[in-house]
This record gives sequence, C-alpha cells and structure tokens, in this order.
Amino acid sequence: MLVEIKGVTKTYQSGDAQVNALDNASLNIEEGDFTVLVGPSGSGKTTMLNHIGCLDRPTSGDVIWEGQNIETLNDDSLSALRAARIGFIFQSFHLVPVLTALENVMLAWQLSGEPGDIEKARQLLVDVDLADHADRKPNQLSGGQQQRVAIARALIKDPKLVIADEPTANLDSATGEKILSLMRKLNEERGTTFLFSTHDERVMSHAKKVYTLVDGVVQVGDA
Ligand SMILES: Nc1ncnc2c1ncn2[C@@H]1O[C@H](COP(=O)(O)OP(=O)(O)OP(=O)(O)O)[C@@H](O)[C@H]1O
Ligand SMILES: [Mg+2]
Repeated sequence: MLVEIKGVTKTYQSGDAQVNALDNASLNIEEGDFTVLVGPSGSGKTTMLNHIGCLDRPTSGDVIWEGQNIETLNDDSLSALRAARIGFIFQSFHLVPVLTALENVMLAWQLSGEPGDIEKARQLLVDVDLADHADRKPNQLSGGQQQRVAIARALIKDPKLVIADEPTANLDSATGEKILSLMRKLNEERGTTFLFSTHDERVMSHAKKVYTLVDGVVQVGDA
C-alpha cells in the first residue's frame, strides 16, 4: 500500500465553532491507482489531499506512507518524504514568474540542492507538448500551457504519487482532455500513481477509483 488514511479527523477552529474538515475518514491509495476525489464544495477534498501529500497532520487518526506512520517523522523528514516521493499540481499552478518554463521544471531539483538533469527537463516539456515554449516565462503562456509546465515540474523527479487539486478547473475542455490523456498515459506506461480532486465529470470518467466526500466522511464508489 502506498498511502493509508486510517480514521483521520481534522478539526479546524473557526471563531467559536469547530469544523471537522475530515471526520473519521479512511481510504487507501495503492500503487498504480488513478483515483479521483469528488464531493461538494467544503466537503474536505483539499484537506484530504493535503493529508495524503503530507502537507498537514491529522488532529487524530493515522496517515501511513509506505508502511511508515508520519506521526513518527519530524517536519524535516516529512519535507524530505514529500520532495522524494510526491509531485504536486496546485490549482493556481504556483509557477515562479521570473523563471522560464524550463527553469520552473528544473526548480524541484534546485530546491533539494541537486544538480538536476536539463535533458530530462527538456524531454518532459516535449512530452507535455511544450518543446517550443521552454524559454518562455509564465506570463507569456496560456493557462493550459502553464498547467502543463506545472505537470512537467510535478513529474521531473519521478514521484511515486502525483497529487492534483482540481487539475482541469482553469482549462478549456479540449486542453483538459489532452492533459488527462497525458496523465493516463503516464499512469499506464510508467505506473505513476495519480490522485485528483475535481468537480469535473470528464475527470471522473478517466478514473479507476472514485471516492466521494460528504461533510468530511468518505464514501466509496466505482468509476
Ligand atoms: N484553515 C482552515 N481554517 C478553518 N476552516 C477550514 C480551513 N481549511 C478548511 N476549512 C474548512 O474545512 C472544510 C473543508 O474544506 P476543504 O477546503 O477541504 O473543502 P473542499 O472539498 O476542498 O472544497 P472546494 O471544493 O470548495 O475546494 C470547509 O468547511 C472549510 O471551510
Ligand atoms: Mg478544495
């Protein structure tokens, strides 16, 4: 098992009230999965992705990554796990505006102090159909092109798991479809595990597994 979420509750204080963003939620991510999380706004999707991606820690319950309870890891070890194992694609891309597409893809290495492999970065830009745009900065790229740079960046270190929060939310349907096909291809050819949250029916149709969240509780459904 890649990631086990076992009875996780995440409680946020909001003024005087407490909100359980996750309420005794459990799910598993297996290697090779192509899993989609759906559910209404506020149901806990982003909170769940943040826990699976080790960006946050539960109030109670367990997050187990490749057999290791993250409770036993300090923040530095958790950062190291993220850097080595997980690629994130955020809804707003989080590209660095002063860097070119190629430099943004290389950034994951620079952040962990590794020299990096520029030929691999160029090849990934070819894979996401951006070979001719490697030297452009984000403000010279369309939303779909920026999204594809973010995907290349998420993939550059061969992560075990790619996590994407609403990956098609800012894309027109043709671009969204192209990006989903690319991810599905990487899933099939390289065995990279993908986990998305979405409101988008088209994303759900690509899923191998669908989990529905309702008020922080996980319900299991078939794709
Ligand atoms: N930092 C926070 N402080 C207080 N409450 C929070 C915080 N983050 C999330 N929440 C609350 O937790 C619940 C779940 O939020 P979450 O962002 O996980 O939902 P979501 O399913 O991703 O929604 P959306 O589809 O709108 O992105 C919501 O009620 C939200 O208001
Ligand atoms: Mg969200």
